[in-house]
Amino acid sequence: MFFITTAIDYTNGAPHIGHAYEKVLTDVVARYRRLCGEEVYFLTGVDQHGQKVQQTAEKEGIHPATFAKKKTKLFSNLWKKLGLQYDGWAETTDDLHKACVQAILTDLKDRGELYKKAYKGFYSVRQEQFLTDRDRNEAGEFGAEWGEVVEIEEENWYFRLSDHAAWLTEFAANNPDFVIPGFRRNELLGALDRSGEMDLCISRPKERLRWGIEIPFDTDYVTYVWFDALINYISFAGYRAKDGAALPDFTKLWPQPGSTTGRPVHVIGKDILVPAHGIYWPCMLHAMGFSDEQMPTILVHGWWNIRGEKMSKSLGNVVDPDELADKFGVDALRYYLVRDITTGKDSDFDLDRLVMLYNQELANELGNLCNRALNMTARFSGGVVKTGGEITSEELDLQASLATVTADYRAAMNAFDIAEALKAINRHVTHCNAYTERNKPWELGKDPANRSRVETVLAHLAESVAHCAVLLSPVLPEPAERLAAQLKLDQLLSLKLADLKWGVIPDGHETGKPKPVFPKIIIEEIV
Ligand code: MSP
Repeated sequence: MFFITTAIDYTNGAPHIGHAYEKVLTDVVARYRRLCGEEVYFLTGVDQHGQKVQQTAEKEGIHPATFAKKKTKLFSNLWKKLGLQYDGWAETTDDLHKACVQAILTDLKDRGELYKKAYKGFYSVRQEQFLTDRDRNEAGEFGAEWGEVVEIEEENWYFRLSDHAAWLTEFAANNPDFVIPGFRRNELLGALDRSGEMDLCISRPKERLRWGIEIPFDTDYVTYVWFDALINYISFAGYRAKDGAALPDFTKLWPQPGSTTGRPVHVIGKDILVPAHGIYWPCMLHAMGFSDEQMPTILVHGWWNIRGEKMSKSLGNVVDPDELADKFGVDALRYYLVRDITTGKDSDFDLDRLVMLYNQELANELGNLCNRALNMTARFSGGVVKTGGEITSEELDLQASLATVTADYRAAMNAFDIAEALKAINRHVTHCNAYTERNKPWELGKDPANRSRVETVLAHLAESVAHCAVLLSPVLPEPAERLAAQLKLDQLLSLKLADLKWGVIPDGHETGKPKPVFPKIIIEEIV
């Protein structure tokens, strides 16, 4: 089973393009693995607790639960619009999740992993955490990124994170698949090297924060939001679930000791690798008794920025994916989000490039290929694909191009490099369009003596369109279906990648009428 999750989004605001990117990226990987014939479980959801939600709700004069519910809808509606195919939905206010968090807290306390102590120190309200001298900038101050910083003294519950630091350093150093890409693992190793890890404060007194999961053995406290949120990856996977709970079987999703099931993959942004996912989470799992082979893989993606700057409400440069989907279409948005960024790196969000890449690569190149192939099959080959003709070096080249491109596509997708995979598909489409220009079936078709030659050329085009539809389907599921429908290949998208071989269109197969699958975006027509 391939178990893949995204970060769960804070419900203190509306979804932006960064949230949408992460979800589409994960959806593409999940769909690709299904295409490879793997059983997949894709979990995503929302992070509903914490100070930010409580504060924003207070400002609006409503209960945090009502506020979180309202914001949650914005996320789930958008994911529906963008065609995400997820299997599990995590909401941290769910009773099943709360029960799991509380069971874990009790268990960790019983194992001696938690203790209570008084601590006086600086606290960042925005980041909801205590700060140490390591968090000061070169001027010795707490920078603007921490927001309001206050000095407080209070008793809290602590997790013995430091007891697991040596294990984590060794684990991270010896397991290249713990954090992908490699340069992000190096960042984590650097952070582990610099920091003598301190224990983690995992509670907040209710007088300061009410909106969280109650500590079961000390009811004046709620759980620190990160400790609660990270647990979603196992609580919604059925960890410690009661019999009859509507949750998956944990032993199927998560590797068990000694099993060779691959690691679950957590897809997250670069800002939440250190310390949350790279340090707290593996140490929490280790403390719960998870072994090395039960640790997840963390796939870290970069950020979408705006003209080199971070997207933020205060800069007023937040891009709304809902609006973009309405204006430019879901296909253009899904395509752009994974086509114009290298997984792991940052990229600049640029509407002109969204329109250009869609118009160029999809409307002009692939759309044109499909249109020509089907139009000319109707005109010169009686609407039927004929595969029996003689082939020349031109056809051998085209078949070789498709084989190379498919191999490149697979290698890129296996490495989570969606942009490279799409570029590979486009290389074959370009090859096909150049092949058409060279062989000019529209001219050959005028003379009945060339019938067999024309049929061979057109069969190669139609076969190529079918393969491109399959390869494109994880990124653009609906257009892939439209392509399959025009080719009249009902079963095309049920094929597994290993069965995608030359000859998916049988001799004598009747094709349908072409209809634009990628209508061109005319910027002037968009208000
Ligand atoms: N609630 C926490 C995650 C808890 S996971 C157990 C959180 N939420 S968030 O809403 O702030 O961010 C959700 C995801 O969106 C994170 O992975 C974050 O990195 C990602 N992104 C936020 N801004 C982004 C961009 N501008 N670009 C790409 N991804 C970005 O952190």
